[in-house]
Amino acid sequence: MEVGSVTMSSSSYPPILRFVSKLAPFAASLVLLLILNAPTSTEAFDSLDPNGNITIKWDVMQWTPDGYVAVVTMFNFQQYRHIQAPGWTLGWTWAKKEVIWSMVGAQTTEQGDCSKFKGNIPHCCKRDPTVVDLLPGTPYNMQIANCCKAGVISSFNQDPASAASSFQVSVGLAGTTNKTVKLPKNFTLKAPGPGYTCGLAKIVKPTKFVTQDGRRTTQALMTWNVTCTYSQFLAQKTPTCCVSLSSFYNDTIVNCPTCSCGCQNNNTQPGSCVEGDSPYLASAINGPGKYSYQPLVQCTSHMCPIRVHWHVKLNYKDYWRVKITITNFNYRMNYTQWNLVVQHPNFDNLTQLFSFNYKSITPYGAAINDTAMLWGIKFYNDLLMEAGPYGNVQSELLFRKDANTFTFDKGWAYPRRIYFNGDNCVMPPPDAYPWLPNASPLSKRPFSLRVRVFWMVLMGLLLFV
Ligand SMILES: *[C@@H]1O[C@H](CO)[C@@H](O)[C@H](O)[C@H]1NC(C)=O
Ligand SMILES: *[C@@H]1O[C@H](CO)[C@@H](O)[C@H](O)[C@H]1NC(C)=O
Ligand SMILES: *[C@@H]1O[C@H](CO)[C@@H](O)[C@H](O)[C@H]1NC(C)=O
Ligand SMILES: *[C@@H]1O[C@H](CO)[C@@H](O)[C@H](O)[C@H]1NC(C)=O
Ligand SMILES: *[C@@H]1O[C@H](CO)[C@@H](O)[C@H](O)[C@H]1NC(C)=O
Ligand SMILES: *[C@@H]1O[C@H](CO)[C@@H](O)[C@H](O)[C@H]1NC(C)=O
Ligand SMILES: *[C@@H]1O[C@H](CO)[C@@H](O)[C@H](O)[C@H]1NC(C)=O
Ligand SMILES: *[C@@H]1O[C@H](CO)[C@@H](O)[C@H](O)[C@H]1NC(C)=O
Ligand SMILES: *[C@@H]1O[C@H](CO)[C@@H](O)[C@H](O)[C@H]1NC(C)=O
Repeated sequence: MEVGSVTMSSSSYPPILRFVSKLAPFAASLVLLLILNAPTSTEAFDSLDPNGNITIKWDVMQWTPDGYVAVVTMFNFQQYRHIQAPGWTLGWTWAKKEVIWSMVGAQTTEQGDCSKFKGNIPHCCKRDPTVVDLLPGTPYNMQIANCCKAGVISSFNQDPASAASSFQVSVGLAGTTNKTVKLPKNFTLKAPGPGYTCGLAKIVKPTKFVTQDGRRTTQALMTWNVTCTYSQFLAQKTPTCCVSLSSFYNDTIVNCPTCSCGCQNNNTQPGSCVEGDSPYLASAINGPGKYSYQPLVQCTSHMCPIRVHWHVKLNYKDYWRVKITITNFNYRMNYTQWNLVVQHPNFDNLTQLFSFNYKSITPYGAAINDTAMLWGIKFYNDLLMEAGPYGNVQSELLFRKDANTFTFDKGWAYPRRIYFNGDNCVMPPPDAYPWLPNASPLSKRPFSLRVRVFWMVLMGLLLFV
């Protein structure tokens, strides 16, 4: 996939494709299909955010007669993947027979068997506690900073100030010095489903805390870190979004591929979707699955909760304009703080963007600048409402043409890939892209100088070998 993504992000379709298309038109579309549809979801890591991770930090703040009090903080260092409702679930296994006497800003989902305790009963006696965040509106005496957001954590690019979540835990039957404490093992992070893999806890330099006036620094008695990384392959989710395309130069609207996110099947899965005008809509929304956030989608051919539409809208002399519309087909979800990652070679010259925020993502340094993260403006369109009349957000992008690369030919004007909330969207097959009038997708173009040089060099190398 590395080869594929690097190739596709060069200024145009790779020269080799043009060459092949001259020789064998059908082979060209096959190669294109293979490159564009390569299963990015099987990547072990995300090539657009290679260092993205969630780091869980334990700061021991105080020793107690039988253990310690620690503040646990999760930092989301991922550029565009956030944790949305119903929020994170954190688990681990104690190394010895530790118990949790109390927690502030979070709670364990089960208390477990505390029957051997008399008098004071611990908050949790399980060897493998499972912790969830508290809800907003928790009484102040049960809160600490960065807690109580129902487990929602922003992505680092969107809102670094909300990209962390904390709670405090008071541990008993544990070591009481930095030599005798045994680190918890086997961390699991669910967000809320699978997808994250956490490494071993490692002792790191104790965190330093600076007071608000900046005049005093304190430090944790002991600190350890755990790093968790996401893989869409591990998440094994069915796709959650798809892409449709259209253009001013061709009336065809290329819809999302049929069954992108599942198929309509009332025989095996009755009620897997609901018509927008169904009289039973309200009862279906409140039916089973309401509290588990299970999507309830409007019946469409693609069955995706999210569709991203890319419309090539206008062609000026020096610029061209694209309209992006994101539509929500899920009746059970308001997507708060949604984001989009779009890869297109012309993002190196984005001139203007209307009503979305923008940040360039350059995973390979300055060399490739073809990927952008787009997200809503706070209080204006950062909430993508549930399916229905308000369930969409849109924006227009104005790109400056680079005469060397710009073309409406061969689907160049369409995005190479799109992520919604960090999940890869299903693209239509490239041979279905809208054509230029009087052109076929395999139409020939005279070789440009660059291409000719490329081939001369390649031939030279081949001869040399
Ligand atoms: C986690 O992400 C941070 C910030 O990008 C980075 O500094 C750190 O090296 C990453 N950790 C690992 C283990 O990849
Ligand atoms: C434990 O604490 C002592 C002094 O308090 C310090 O010298 C030592 O480096 C600490 N060890 C660890 C692993 O933090
Ligand atoms: C680690 O946790 C997983 C899931 O909670 C569990 O299946 C596994 O047995 C645990 N491994 C150890 C060594 O505790
Ligand atoms: C531990 O985590 C903190 C907070 O995420 C980070 O600042 C620090 O660099 C990490 N330390 C190591 C050694 O990864
Ligand atoms: C599937 O069932 C839903 C409601 O149960 C109904 O609205 C929809 O029209 C059905 N779809 C098909 C293709 O029969
Ligand atoms: C989405 O937000 C609107 C307005 O805040 C609210 O009326 C609606 O119930 C919400 N829908 C869901 C599924 O949470
Ligand atoms: C953007 O377009 C201008 C004018 O065509 C060009 O000079 C400049 O090099 C382009 N910038 C990039 C990063 O390609
Ligand atoms: C990438 O392109 C954007 C938009 O033209 C520009 O603001 C940004 O500085 C570029 N980044 C790099 C690393 O070239
Ligand atoms: C528009 O594109 C489609 C392919 O998506 C093609 O079948 C059709 O012929 C094109 N229409 C015109 C007028 O070129």
